[in-house]
Amino acid sequence: MKWKVTLSDLNFDQRERKMVDEVIENRWLTMGEIVERLEEEFAHFMGARHAITVSSGTAALHLAMRALNIKPPDQVIVPSLSFVASSNAILYVGAKPTFVDISGWNDFNLSCEDLEKKITNKTKAIVVVHYGGYLADMQEIKRIARKHKLFVIEDSAHAIGADLNSKMAGTLGEVGCFSFFSNKNLATGEGGMILTHNDRLARKLKLLRSHGMTSMTLNRHKGHTYTYDVVELGYNYRMTEISAALGILQLKKLHRANKKRKVLTELYVSNLKGIDGFSIPFRDYPRKSSYHLFPILLNKKVNRKKFMEFLKKERIQSSIHYPPIHKFSYYRKNLRGNQTKLPLTEYVGAHQVTLPLHPLLEKEDVIFVCDKIKKILPQVLR
Ligand SMILES: Cc1ncc(COP(=O)(O)O)c(C=O)c1O
Repeated sequence: MKWKVTLSDLNFDQRERKMVDEVIENRWLTMGEIVERLEEEFAHFMGARHAITVSSGTAALHLAMRALNIKPPDQVIVPSLSFVASSNAILYVGAKPTFVDISGWNDFNLSCEDLEKKITNKTKAIVVVHYGGYLADMQEIKRIARKHKLFVIEDSAHAIGADLNSKMAGTLGEVGCFSFFSNKNLATGEGGMILTHNDRLARKLKLLRSHGMTSMTLNRHKGHTYTYDVVELGYNYRMTEISAALGILQLKKLHRANKKRKVLTELYVSNLKGIDGFSIPFRDYPRKSSYHLFPILLNKKVNRKKFMEFLKKERIQSSIHYPPIHKFSYYRKNLRGNQTKLPLTEYVGAHQVTLPLHPLLEKEDVIFVCDKIKKILPQVLR
């Protein structure tokens, strides 16, 4: 299928190509000076004390759990309306995810009311996902976390560049995790970043990222040291120099790209106004979003499968964010997902559709998509 309008696209040009060429000419591919430069620039951009690159957003979440010493029989609260990695990371360390419902049809972020109800004496942390780049209610979440002595881990995979009163998403809890997967606002193919203000956590995260080793390959390559000790059970979650080079350029483009996403989101909203059959969440959102996704929520009377098939016929790519995690077979079998009741999450999981949004989209593309939606909707009513 050759899409006319893709869901996402790489905001790459000759500069990325040139930078990758330079890395190859340098003849050093694994974590080195370019990775360090990305970490410095990302930390500065975000206003965080430490930025630690990793190989993916999933690795970032896993290391966050390890660094905070989350282990059995701890429980961690997480929204089910997220990518499965948000919850898998909790399982990797033998802890138990407790799923929390979303706030409502206009706000797909976690409900603070449900969050407080789900806290037990085993709860150690909350994973906050900023859905689509729209920040969850961090003030209230942090108040609850302080009251119950819980860590806050921000899964900021969608929220690169979003902020709350000039403080960036990913800097508001103990640890902030980012994904640089190909469809993200900052894309390096695979890759991720962890932010923290805490020196001790940063040291531990760096050790865990590279097998708990006390010296890096680059140090040995440069002849600074010959041997090393292993002081933690770590992993190979290192980023390559090629990914870091892409990340440096993508970071430079981020502000402008997010602004374009905002303009396109507003264009969608104004062109879809007054059409019966769906609602658009996060209206009147008061803060700076990163506009990662453009989600709509179909009414019960609209057949989603048919709606998405009609879009496909028009060569418009669409997606679903998300099939709820607790409903997946693995979670049903192993975590009694069947007995978990999250009515709002389940409704959104069954009726939500994500429309194309990325900085290479033109205004005409958005208008094209809106016109097709107006045409399609009467044909897909139940
Ligand atoms: C909300 C969320 N969390 C975590 C991840 C995992 O990131 P990665 O794919 O880089 O491992 C993603 C990525 O798709 C995501 O969207």
